[in-house]
Amino acid sequence: MTTPLLFTPMRIRELELRNRIAVAPMHQYSGENGFPTNWHMVNVGRFAAGGAGLVIVESTKVERRGCGTLGDLGLWDDKFIAPLANIATFIKSHGAAAGIQLGHTGRKGKTKRPWEGDEPLPYQPQVKDWEDWDIIGPSSLAFADGWTVPRALSLGEIPDAIESWGKAADRAHRAGFDMIELHGAHGYLIHQFLSPEANQRTDRYGGSQENRMRFALEVVECVRRYWPASKPLFMRLSIEDEAGWGPEQNVVLSRELKVRGVDVIDCSTGGLTSKVPNFFRLTEYGYQVPYAERIRREADIMTMAVGLIIHGDQAEAILQNKQADLVAIGRELLNNPNWPMDAAQKMGVDPGYNGVPPQFGYWLAKRAKRGFGCKPSTWQSGLSA
Ligand SMILES: Cc1cc2nc3c(=O)[nH]c(=O)nc-3n(C[C@H](O)[C@H](O)[C@H](O)COP(=O)(O)O)c2cc1C
Repeated sequence: MTTPLLFTPMRIRELELRNRIAVAPMHQYSGENGFPTNWHMVNVGRFAAGGAGLVIVESTKVERRGCGTLGDLGLWDDKFIAPLANIATFIKSHGAAAGIQLGHTGRKGKTKRPWEGDEPLPYQPQVKDWEDWDIIGPSSLAFADGWTVPRALSLGEIPDAIESWGKAADRAHRAGFDMIELHGAHGYLIHQFLSPEANQRTDRYGGSQENRMRFALEVVECVRRYWPASKPLFMRLSIEDEAGWGPEQNVVLSRELKVRGVDVIDCSTGGLTSKVPNFFRLTEYGYQVPYAERIRREADIMTMAVGLIIHGDQAEAILQNKQADLVAIGRELLNNPNWPMDAAQKMGVDPGYNGVPPQFGYWLAKRAKRGFGCKPSTWQSGLSA
């Protein structure tokens, strides 16, 4: 049997991935003053133990003021290196590569957690550094009615804002992460600079498309100065939003990003405004895959597809059809953290469960030998394989 592409190892720069399944970055809103907690270890740990090739830790903020909610993770200080290093070490000890997404929320900061309303957060006396949580953006334009109006970054402040991404990348390296993803999507700071709606500056960071791309490109240049050439750099972009930043613009941007050392574009959509985008078909499997395909083809760069990728054979078809080079799975992994192991079994790969820790792989392999594996045919008949 030929190994499915999904389970064929791949190399990006000097990083070897055991398969092409990435865990999409997913905020847990569970940090304490920017520090990870046991929850983070358990959460990403179970994905590594479940067989993913690349585990990407949630959007971790490069500046204190870049936090979105209470509970965001931070990398704006060296004090965060040791606890994140513990997590990276655990991920790697289970054969997955350890990735981390770096982010800055910009004008969408200071909000409640999603399950608490996903709306502006009123003053919290227990947050000692409330004043440092200074909401900034490219222009003084709020995300939506009733949201904090950001303070527009002055031209003189921009170099430091960019430098914070590089310093966070350096800390991620010192914490032992193998890969970084820069969050340039979902209406957060980098996307705000790209957007003709959120960015109405009249200096060299606003106006023309070239000027609006400058912040993103300078962030990448800065990160590449701090992040080793041997390690991959991904960037997540909203390939289409509801406010004038679309695939055509992203093809141009992706070409420029590639020249500056971005290896993979993680293709997402939306988030710039509170309007429900009319291009969203959230009930369709793989609804963002066509964006990954277009960027891959037209910008000649590797892409990662994400969004309602649910089944192993669906993921395999995306890779076989050359629509993307990797797939990222989010909610389906929350539903089943052992999704890679499960997909491997259903696709007839790894009968010995070698892709998961022996602590449970050993017993599952023994059970499978007796005919109780998780092949679909076994399940359908309700009897043995
Ligand atoms: C709980 C949760 C938290 C998320 N946090 C992030 C995040 O930190 N950064 C990000 O870029 N996307 C985030 N996302 C979006 C996911 O990475 C992913 O793009 C999205 O869920 C679509 O993929 P899926 O259909 O496989 O879940 C989050 C999604 C969920 C469900």
